[in-house]
Amino acid sequence: MQAIAKSSPNIALIKYWGKRDTLKNLPAVDSLSLTLDSLWTTMDVKFSPEILQDELVINDEQQDKEFSRVQDCLNLVAGESRNFAKIKSSCNFPISAGLASSSSSFSALVIAANSALGKKWNTHLFANQASAISGSAARSLLGGIVELENISNGIKIQQLSKPNRWPLKVIIAITDTRKKSISSSEAMKLSAKTSPFYASWVQDQVFDMKEAKTAVVDQDFEKLAVISEHNCLKMHSVMWTSRPSIVYWNSATINCMHAIRNLQKKGEPVFFTIDAGPQIKAICLPENEDLVEKRLGEIVGVKSIMKSDLGSGPSVDINI
Ligand code: PMV
Repeated sequence: MQAIAKSSPNIALIKYWGKRDTLKNLPAVDSLSLTLDSLWTTMDVKFSPEILQDELVINDEQQDKEFSRVQDCLNLVAGESRNFAKIKSSCNFPISAGLASSSSSFSALVIAANSALGKKWNTHLFANQASAISGSAARSLLGGIVELENISNGIKIQQLSKPNRWPLKVIIAITDTRKKSISSSEAMKLSAKTSPFYASWVQDQVFDMKEAKTAVVDQDFEKLAVISEHNCLKMHSVMWTSRPSIVYWNSATINCMHAIRNLQKKGEPVFFTIDAGPQIKAICLPENEDLVEKRLGEIVGVKSIMKSDLGSGPSVDINI
């Protein structure tokens, strides 16, 4: 009744923003992402009749506050009449700071909980369970470049490209490690209700997905760069024009963006994307990785840099 799963966050190039069903947590749009390898979360889940209440420890710290999302996830996987569980989690990067920690946490939790119950790997089932808790988590169940598609009563994920078929590099400039001021779930609700751009954001996604998928198939870096930056800035425009407006960026985020634009002007293959937080992620090719890292590291306000290749997806380490 115990299993440990390890999963990495994924970074969306064509973003998920907004829900078509808030109760089932179904996304309003399809999305496309890169699964990382050097950032990770592990989840150790043990169900036992001897455990008297659910317990959550993150990075060796007992969580005293409510952890209802974690409990909802366990209820979904194991049923409401399950045994209580002890959950121990470790994460090697800042949590809830726009680095997609919910994607690695909830994908690892779904895998560990199912494995602890002796259930076999089932991509479709695990993806729908993970997505019901965190919309981006399903994409972390597969490695490389992943597509999440809406289907009638849920979602479907598929790998578009294996991690070493197109060895892209992701360089993350961390500009602030504090928790974000508003969760993505709350922010999405606000955007859907108040942004005048929300409807066209949803409508245009079909075109952006098509363009990005073609770029992946053809390994067309320039095409992927153009559509990814456009999609990212469109998502942030929806956030900015929500009422009250949602601005996750800080001055270092913008300076990093300009630094990347300057590299592009010099012909360097690199582009940026930004999620619900102030960190900037640069995607580049192996040959210009060092230069991009150096440029971003020079910017005032960049606290640290993390680098990653594309990862091959999660693993279950132990199953007792
Ligand atoms: O999975 P959530 O609820 O944390 O939402 C993630 C939303 C973005 O990271 C901003 C975009 C995405 O597709 O991952």
